[in-house]
Amino acid sequence: MCSFNFQANNNHSKNFIMKLKNLLRSIFFIISISVFLVSCEWKTVVKPEVVVPEEVSFAADIEPIFESAGCTGCHNSPGGFANLDLRSGNAYSSITSGGFVNIATPEESLIYQVHLENGPTTIKYSDQEAALVLKWIQDGALNN
Ligand code: HEC
Repeated sequence: MCSFNFQANNNHSKNFIMKLKNLLRSIFFIISISVFLVSCEWKTVVKPEVVVPEEVSFAADIEPIFESAGCTGCHNSPGGFANLDLRSGNAYSSITSGGFVNIATPEESLIYQVHLENGPTTIKYSDQEAALVLKWIQDGALNN
């Protein structure tokens, strides 16, 4: 009698634990799916949009890119890599006198293309930086 009761109780608690396990499994599953969906959503929200202003200034918009993108780590002296000096103050004359811009076909300008996809280094312009550089050349590559 006693043992029968014990058996019944035992089955009952086994059932309960099974249900609890299933419940925890479902909760874990739901949380995983939520985290996955939220992270996808988060990625699309923070992907920076390319915003190109009406006017691009060489001094204010382009020169700082050479610093922040890391170009000046290599292109920092007149006799350096590709004879290109991208330091602020030197960049304009170096780029224009060295033939690194192509006003007629801006997309083919070396200063735009070289580190876009298959450049000699892993340094790349961001989409935003590339858009600014291209716009600056399309507008005539002015020293503005
Ligand atoms: C790790 C060093 C390094 C960094 C950083 C670097 N470059 Fe260069 N770059 C080179 C080398 C090396 C060459 C090839 C030089 C040569 O062939 O004489 C080169 C060549 C170039 C050329 C000329 C390409 C040609 O075909 O004549 C341009 C323009 C240029 N780089 C622009 C940039 C810009 C813009 C950045 C930043 C986004 C940058 N570089 C960052 C090393 C670097």
